[in-house]
Amino acid sequence: MSSTRGLFITIEGGEGVGKSTNIDFIAQRLQRQGIPFILTREPGGTPLAEDIRQLLLTPRDEAVAENTELLLMFAARAQHIAEVIEPALAKGQWVVCDRFTDATFAYQGGGRGIPMAKIADLEQWVQGDLRPDFTLLLDAAIEVGMSRASKRGALDRFEQEQQNFFENVRAAYLNLAKQHSHRYRVIDASQSLAQVQQSLLTVIDEMMTAGGA
Ligand code: TMP
Repeated sequence: MSSTRGLFITIEGGEGVGKSTNIDFIAQRLQRQGIPFILTREPGGTPLAEDIRQLLLTPRDEAVAENTELLLMFAARAQHIAEVIEPALAKGQWVVCDRFTDATFAYQGGGRGIPMAKIADLEQWVQGDLRPDFTLLLDAAIEVGMSRASKRGALDRFEQEQQNFFENVRAAYLNLAKQHSHRYRVIDASQSLAQVQQSLLTVIDEMMTAGGA
């Protein structure tokens, strides 16, 4: 068992910015470098948290109250941290997580308009000191992402939101990137895949130095 804690890396971005493709690329790179890591996602990452994900993403006739959505996100997160994230980091594994609490600041804060301070209170309560070491923000104009997302088929409850919602999500992410510039690396996801991956390689090198790999 390694005595060094693993790095906690989160990947963020709006809809259709190419998160999955780029997460695959990161995973391949880490594997080639021999770094022990796990890939996981939010909301989700454990059987219970994946059930909560289904509740959150499935479109329904009943209006979902903002606080219900917010608390379900954190309920899933609490389970994910306890069962998956903390044990892996403690074992020295890197954790690469497709979205984390910055998505709550962006979607429930920026998108729904819940005060950021209220989200920060829950963050502190549920996570204690746990924060990502690095956050990669894949950023692209809303139109780029929405057209890619709509080509994937049936839209989930978030994808059904209007353009204005996604503009607010994007603005909130860019604001978070400024506020937490020490851990954020913003990548222009409207570039070609080759260019995006070149930027990713630079960030991965930086992470390996930070992680002592
Ligand atoms: P995904 O499609 O990237 O897997 O994410 C699922 C959706 O959940 C996506 O539309 C963003 C949303 N989401 C939130 O609104 N708040 C959160 O805290 C998280 C983790 C995701």
